[in-house]
Amino acid sequence: MEHDDLKIPPVALGTWAWGDTGEAGRGYFGSGLTRADVEAMVDKAHAAGFRLWDTAMVYGMGRAETLLGEVLKRLPRSAYQLATKFTPQAAGSGDHPVADMLERSLARLGTDYIDLYWIHNPGDVVRWTPQLIPLLKSGQVRHVGVSNHNLDEIQLANRLLGEAGFRIEAVQNHYSLLYRGSERAGILDYCRSQGIPFFAYMVLEQGALSGKYSPDHPMPIDSDRAATYNAMLPQLKALTDALSSIGGRLGASAAEVATAWAIAKGTTPIVGVTRPQHVDGLVRASRLKLTRDDIVELEAVADAAGLNTRGWWEREMVV
Ligand SMILES: NC(=O)c1ccc[n+]([C@@H]2O[C@H](COP(=O)([O-])OP(=O)(O)OC[C@H]3O[C@@H](n4cnc5c(N)ncnc54)[C@H](OP(=O)(O)O)[C@@H]3O)[C@@H](O)[C@H]2O)c1
Repeated sequence: MEHDDLKIPPVALGTWAWGDTGEAGRGYFGSGLTRADVEAMVDKAHAAGFRLWDTAMVYGMGRAETLLGEVLKRLPRSAYQLATKFTPQAAGSGDHPVADMLERSLARLGTDYIDLYWIHNPGDVVRWTPQLIPLLKSGQVRHVGVSNHNLDEIQLANRLLGEAGFRIEAVQNHYSLLYRGSERAGILDYCRSQGIPFFAYMVLEQGALSGKYSPDHPMPIDSDRAATYNAMLPQLKALTDALSSIGGRLGASAAEVATAWAIAKGTTPIVGVTRPQHVDGLVRASRLKLTRDDIVELEAVADAAGLNTRGWWEREMVV
């Protein structure tokens, strides 16, 4: 089936935090986002031309998809693109676990197709990848991508799809100033050589690189992200200071400079937005021009922090 090419924006919008209950201090992020915030973010993103929304069934076990589906009803379906994920660890025991999970995501999102369907993590590449083929043929899935796969697994998935005339059309991995495993493992180079867009998730390290948090002003104390990042905040100060200092020269915030770094590296950042002004920040970030010296300085300061921010769900990319 022929479909429009996937439109790759300068940045995509992430909705993991939208799966929280909405009460401050609760859930993974404890961002306390409101329905009014979410509606304003959708309107601002649409006005700015940011059309690609990234979600997953497991973000709040359906809550993020449901909320996203509800607020996107304000727009015609052709005005945005949806990316959601098959998560192997949450697969059912039926004969068609990928189709079954997709079916429920479609219902929550209020649509009959997904623009970009991700296999969330490799689990078992040979088992899961071929199950995408009938969904591509039916048009329920327009394009497929893989997330958290290492280079061998990306190439294997590409071969399995290639046997049916399809291909991996996007890769999504953790990639930030503090976590550059995909670069060191040659995945960025591979994607560039194959014309596969690389989506960078957690470029802000869940807010730790936004400049908003410090030892005196830590992340919401009962949130899961606080358990990872609050102890790192003292070692992160030199990096957030460097981001703020470059931002000061360019009229941008630390978060916007961290996002612009990921764009300058040839990736498409997926930024988790929780406030309407974060979308304004993405507009500025997508226009920022960092110099070669800025990039070298930021990477040196990040390396000097000596931190490993690999998520509990990830494996090292360098084998
Ligand atoms: N495939 C995977 O396994 C995987 C894993 C992780 C993430 N993802 C995807 O990638 C997306 C991004 O990751 P993430 O949401 O975990 O983390 P992130 O984008 O690194 O950070 C998001 C946090 O940064 C803060 N923030 C965002 N924009 C800001 C701005 N302009 N200025 C200041 N602060 C800003 C917000 O914190 P406050 O609410 O505290 O302000 C927000 O919760 C996710 O939403 C999800 O779609 C995928």
